[in-house]
Amino acid sequence: MTFTITPHASPVSTQAREKTLEDPGFGRVFTDHMVTLRWSTDRGWHDGKVTARAPLAIDPACAVLHYAQEIFEGMKAYRTATGEIVLFRPEMNATRFARSAERLAMPILPESLFIQAVEELVRIDKHWVPSGAGSLYLRPFMFASEAFLGVRPAQEYIFCVIACPVGPYFKGGDKPLKLWVSDQYTRAAPGGTGAAKCGGNYAASLIAQAEATEHGCDQVVFLDAAEHRWIEELGGMNLFFVMNDGSIVTPPLTGTILPGITRTSVIEIARELGMTVSEAPYALEQWRADAQSGKLSEAFACGTAAVIASIGEIVSSSGSFRLNKAHESPVAKKLKEQLVGIQRGSVADSRGWVRKV
Ligand code: PLP
Ligand code: COI
Repeated sequence: MTFTITPHASPVSTQAREKTLEDPGFGRVFTDHMVTLRWSTDRGWHDGKVTARAPLAIDPACAVLHYAQEIFEGMKAYRTATGEIVLFRPEMNATRFARSAERLAMPILPESLFIQAVEELVRIDKHWVPSGAGSLYLRPFMFASEAFLGVRPAQEYIFCVIACPVGPYFKGGDKPLKLWVSDQYTRAAPGGTGAAKCGGNYAASLIAQAEATEHGCDQVVFLDAAEHRWIEELGGMNLFFVMNDGSIVTPPLTGTILPGITRTSVIEIARELGMTVSEAPYALEQWRADAQSGKLSEAFACGTAAVIASIGEIVSSSGSFRLNKAHESPVAKKLKEQLVGIQRGSVADSRGWVRKV
């Protein structure tokens, strides 16, 4: 598809942009442009545009405002040491976006169009990709735009990509995370939308995340809906457990957790480094027992926004426990070094994960 490109008439000045890029935070500042694409039952995908980032005009009866038919992705563009701009496994985001669309009864955006849209934005806003440790966080999303209050899949959608330069997700930088285990709220149940990246999952998680914050914690840990026993994932990250024999455990993809692209990449990297990784259920009481006996040497969270972050303390209504050597976390460090190295071009990309824009 050919996108109509209308550059911003008065983009942010070079000086102001460079100042912002020194310390962009996370999700606070946005680039100059956006990409939009429309879908309707009669026309399919059409009207691809790259324009100045601006508010979208939607009808108050717009279906997404009532029934939350919305999905999104989270990915990053990185500037390598040689100044190239690359995406990391964007086809996996396209595939997950398609699976999320299927689950939410929305139209499928073909992989090539998804990647093209993302690349159009990265190209026009390339000066917004930070160098050094920062990156450009890309947020492709799609919502039901039809003005109709009947409860059925909408017949019109808007797909949009926006971007923001970002630094570390956690304010504490590399400080080990403190987690709050939610015993009152679950994120997703079997048969629900847990494996889809839809806004509704995050809306439902906010009260638990707020509870985590009230307890001085960085993130919430969700347990399974049926037994309230098995570790699922964090509000916005997947989890890994490293045993003192070097083996690694991560909760399996049973449909209630998000199939993280960082998760799958970490599994592949760890296996290539000779580590044993099992995707197996791991219970909260096991986590506590293994941490206290020393059988568990590390635990870490991973995701596009968080990268890889080691976990230092777990707080729950039945008491807290610590991972005393969390600041060392050699396995998490090694995996992060490999992952970030591939993304930034300092480690050979032998698997073809990186795509130059
Ligand atoms: N789990 C949840 C709930 C998330 O929001 C994310 C972030 O996207 C992840 C896991 C990690 O997924 P990915 O590695 O694809 O960013
Ligand atoms: C991501 O890592 O891309 C997410 O969407 C998670 C969110 C916490 C920002």
